[in-house]
Amino acid sequence: MDNLNSVSVMITEEEINRRVCELASEIERDYRGCRIHMVCALKGAVIFLSDLSRKINLDVSYDFVVVSSYGDESVSGGAVCLKSDLTACVEGRHVLLVEDIIDTGHTIVFLREYILSKNPASFKVCSLLDKPDRRVAKGVKIDYLGFSIPDRFAVGYGLDYAQRYRNLPYIGALKI
Ligand code: IMP
Ligand code: MG
Repeated sequence: MDNLNSVSVMITEEEINRRVCELASEIERDYRGCRIHMVCALKGAVIFLSDLSRKINLDVSYDFVVVSSYGDESVSGGAVCLKSDLTACVEGRHVLLVEDIIDTGHTIVFLREYILSKNPASFKVCSLLDKPDRRVAKGVKIDYLGFSIPDRFAVGYGLDYAQRYRNLPYIGALKI
């Protein structure tokens, strides 16, 4: 890939793999006896969802939403909207929202309110990354977190900058 010298490794493939296994065990223990309905926010969380869910030995189903996010920029506007909706009803189901990264928190607050309005049996959040220094939205709760990172722009393992770098097997910081 061109310009990989503008990315410095923050979290290696091995570290990700180890942490994903730990999260999967925690989730498996907490949801024992339940079906988990994983709702993934496209596109950034898709690699995390596929690795995480394959390590959970329970009955799991998937659905996907698309929310407006940064577009091709690296700064967030406050307004979030749904670009593509759930395809199945979440009422009475144990919803686990799978996110790539929580930054200002606007997206997660929006999705939580949206999904809770549809009366799931339970609702929890699993995010690969968190950038707590950037938080703006109030009342963000992350039930399962991979890694807390400093205020750097993260790419790789699903995360992009202008749709690039998603396929890196590690998480890097982009120098912009
Ligand atoms: P929030 O609404 O500000 O919490 O932003 C959430 C969304 O912005 C994430 O789901 C990502 O799609 C995107 N985002 C935030 N920070 C980063 C980053 O460091 N790298 C790549 N995408 C990011
Ligand atoms: Mg996202």
